[in-house]
Amino acid sequence: MTDIQKLSERIRKLAREKNAIILAHNYQVPEVQDVADLTGDSLALSIQASKTDAELIVFCGVHFMAEAASIVCPDKKVVIPVAEAGCAMADMLTAEQLRDMKAMHPGVPVVTYVNSSAEVKAESDICCTSANAIQVVKWTKAPEVIMTPDRNLAEWVRRHTDQTIYSWDGYCPIHDELSTAAVKKARETHPEAVLMAHPECTAQVLELADVVRSTSGMLDYVRTSSATEFIVATENGLLHPLKKENPGKRFYEASPRMICRDMKKTGLEEIIAALETESPVVHVPEKIRDRAYRAVERMLQVPRD
Ligand code: 13P
Ligand code: SF4
Repeated sequence: MTDIQKLSERIRKLAREKNAIILAHNYQVPEVQDVADLTGDSLALSIQASKTDAELIVFCGVHFMAEAASIVCPDKKVVIPVAEAGCAMADMLTAEQLRDMKAMHPGVPVVTYVNSSAEVKAESDICCTSANAIQVVKWTKAPEVIMTPDRNLAEWVRRHTDQTIYSWDGYCPIHDELSTAAVKKARETHPEAVLMAHPECTAQVLELADVVRSTSGMLDYVRTSSATEFIVATENGLLHPLKKENPGKRFYEASPRMICRDMKKTGLEEIIAALETESPVVHVPEKIRDRAYRAVERMLQVPRD
């Protein structure tokens, strides 16, 4: 038995004993995704978690995701194996900055990407994910909308609606740094491949893409596509579930530099420690949770296309 198998068995045993559920984002390292009960994007994971009877949620991802689980599942204990695993984009906007932005555009609804802190969600009217941002903004029917914190997601939405979008200047460094030169090179190397890009990429990169999808959207797309080769313009952790689910298809990184260090901080040992100690706990205070939950709940009412 390999070390990974031994550690994974220990995790599964501890999870049974503690009535715990292990959630892992699509960007986590392969062995963490493999040992998890559920994998997916941040919001889908939280929603699924709220439907289980597990008492303990171990969220293998970054801090805002564990917070989202705590917002959606207030009666459960949520732990994150590595407390310092954060999201550079979520850290680019504080609640105070958002309050100042709202004061500049009084009465304009705020649509906030789930990659944000609970405090920022609490200052927002409705949340969105990379999968439903266009539908959410259209659903507001407001002539003007504030979109935070991702300028690239806001630009993607701007190109699909007539509404005026005021965006915050936040971005994901991993997606934002992907250059059109790197994408064109990948295209030349794999001329038959479908180019899939995440809306956190720049508008220039998205213009070159065949399909623009969230991480779960890319998994869905590949499942039903007749194409056999794909260039993947998002964090490279997604190649693991893509390859695992589609052994007959080929996947290529748009750039080897698309690695989110924070997403790679969690390993099997950290999960064992989190299960044993039931810490570090991520808890959103009720006053903030209540308002943040309203923004998340409103999003869930928006019909999908
Ligand atoms: P999704 O999995 O929701 O597409 O999010 C991507 C991301 O960057 C999460 O940090
Ligand atoms: Fe945040 Fe970007 Fe990492 Fe996602 S990939 S967690 S948006 S820094």
